[in-house]
Amino acid sequence: MNIAVIGTGYVGLVTGVCFADLGNRVICVDRDKQKIEKLKKGISPIYEPGLEELLRQNQNKKRLFFTTSLKQAVRESKVIFISVGTPSKPDGGADLRYVENASRQIAKAMNGYKLIVEKSTVPVETNKWVKYTLHINNHRKVKFDIASNPEFLREGTAISDFMNPDRIVIGVQTKKARDILVKLYRSLGAPIIVTDLNSAELIKHASNSFLAAKISFINAISNICEKVGADITKVAEAMGLDKRIGRDFLDAGVGFGGSCFPKDVAAFINISQKLGIDFKLLKAVREINQSQRALLFKKIKDTLRSLNKKTIAILGLSFKPNTDNVRNAPAIDIIKLLQKKGVRIKAFDPQAIKKASLVMSGIKFCKNVYETAKDADALVIITDWNEFKELNLYRIKKLLKKPVIIDGRNIYEPKEMKKLGFKYVSVGRR
Ligand code: UGA
Repeated sequence: MNIAVIGTGYVGLVTGVCFADLGNRVICVDRDKQKIEKLKKGISPIYEPGLEELLRQNQNKKRLFFTTSLKQAVRESKVIFISVGTPSKPDGGADLRYVENASRQIAKAMNGYKLIVEKSTVPVETNKWVKYTLHINNHRKVKFDIASNPEFLREGTAISDFMNPDRIVIGVQTKKARDILVKLYRSLGAPIIVTDLNSAELIKHASNSFLAAKISFINAISNICEKVGADITKVAEAMGLDKRIGRDFLDAGVGFGGSCFPKDVAAFINISQKLGIDFKLLKAVREINQSQRALLFKKIKDTLRSLNKKTIAILGLSFKPNTDNVRNAPAIDIIKLLQKKGVRIKAFDPQAIKKASLVMSGIKFCKNVYETAKDADALVIITDWNEFKELNLYRIKKLLKKPVIIDGRNIYEPKEMKKLGFKYVSVGRR
């Protein structure tokens, strides 16, 4: 099938590369010339395991192309995915100007039947407005359908999430649109949920919000654990064995960050408000998440007694492992709180230093964990990268000024840390 993907952000790029790998001819569009030049050379602008290899393979097989010309991409394709950004507005609502702009340009370029698919995460009922924008700019009066096909890819595992999805969601209004999308996804062998456009849009916001709620729920429980000396990891394990609950997304810690959960929770609260519904539960999810960051800062402060003239070693800057994304990363807020108190920050992340240096200043970025720990008053773990789970703790102990570790992701065992002579503070485990 001939496919165009508008927007080569994280979702657009992974989607384009994976559709090409399934044997389609894919043309990806972005107005950022530099990015397109890089992509044409097989260089991925984001760090995502396996993406660059797949990108090059499919370019070599002449199935994957990049252009800045939306018009060319639309003309050469039957199915057009809109994967542009939907950033947050100051009131939390989704800024849909890029979706509108893409829809307008697509309409003007259409030269025959097209299926236009919303892939970007959008508030419910955006489809009506996309359809209207396409309709009023469709001067040649060509036939088109629209569809909503939300993505459920996670950064760091996006390729395997695309190739082995739990489900495919397709929101359509016509049989033709349904048949095209079912054919496109059939080879993945996943359950396909075909529904109306509003339901498809809602499924995305509801799924991300539910996962965010699971995280805030377990974080709230972790605070109770700390009060009574219970162990959150055991509580989560036992809860998770109940099939109705499930163990995933029950890891207590510094809370969620990234480009999706914070933005989608805010947008879902906003659209609910507009529909006359006060989504109190989701507001609490957001508050609990934010307070987990402040709580870790308080733990650092309480453990060290005074932050005056202290140096703190931070491990992990990205919002989660296996990505260089620092958007809404807990590390940013925690570092800022420490810096306000005059703390000197040394930091290391396996991938995110470059991106972190663009949004944070006054940090000494280090080459590895051990250089970071050297002469620091405490080591603080904020992202659960695998390489932080296997540290040479004897060496760390010698390098630190005092043997203090504050673990925001519960990657070590409190008993073992005590045995090794560390003052070890974690989340929901006294
Ligand atoms: C999330 C969803 O998981 C995807 O299904 C969705 O497609 C994507 O958003 C999106 O809307 O594009 P992602 O943001 O890549 O994916 O990351 P997650 O793996 O979901 O983690 C989100 C945050 O929650 C991270 O900061 C992570 O550290 C935190 N988390 C996750 C916890 O604090 N505890 C957990 O138990 C799990």
